Amino acid sequence: MTPLPPEKSEEDRIRPHVYDGIQEFDKRLPNWWLYTLYLTIVFWVGYWAYFEWFRAGPTSAQEVGAELARIEAARLAVAQVDDPTLWQMSRNPAITAAGRAVYDANCAACHLASLRGKAESPVAIGPDLTDNVWVYGGRPVEVHALITKGVLAKGMPTWGPVLGPRKISEVTAFLLSRHREGDPIVLQPPSTP
Ligand code: HEC
Repeated sequence: MTPLPPEKSEEDRIRPHVYDGIQEFDKRLPNWWLYTLYLTIVFWVGYWAYFEWFRAGPTSAQEVGAELARIEAARLAVAQVDDPTLWQMSRNPAITAAGRAVYDANCAACHLASLRGKAESPVAIGPDLTDNVWVYGGRPVEVHALITKGVLAKGMPTWGPVLGPRKISEVTAFLLSRHREGDPIVLQPPSTP
């Protein structure tokens, strides 16, 4: 065994093993290395708590799903307005969320936040938008056209110039999300005022 070189301190003791004639000093890990390790441990605890214990952050699958919905929403926004497109929009969470916002800001006053209007409260002005009974037609394009034009004589405003076609498609999709494709459509003649 070779003696310690004189310049080496107490800390740098030689470790007892010998491999292939090579001996090692028992070096203390450098501080930058240790602090980096401690930092990663602290980060791990926070990261694990956020995503695994409290499940506060989205999972990768949710992130991918939301991103795909956003891409599809952008594609559908420029598509023409027809029944299949509007039904497809009604199944897209990015679009129905936008439609919900349009609805809450413009429609809930009369049709109520629940969409149930007169069916929920007799003092509501607008009719129920969740049932299968429609006055002006229940096909997606008919609902879209009715919202655009309104029924001024009956108190349903004309939304076309206020909201524009994109927001009307979004709010129509939101209404349709409370229905199912293929549900029966019961036509009710407009009541005389
Ligand atoms: C000022 C009150 C008021 C507001 C605000 C309003 N509506 Fe209406 N809405 C009505 C009334 C009243 C009717 C019923 C008209 C009729 O029966 O002739 C109606 C009817 C409708 C119908 C037709 C229902 C059917 O059975 O055919 C749809 C769809 C509709 N509204 C959607 C909307 C949407 C979407 C908004 C928001 C962008 C909105 N309404 C905002 C009062 C309102």
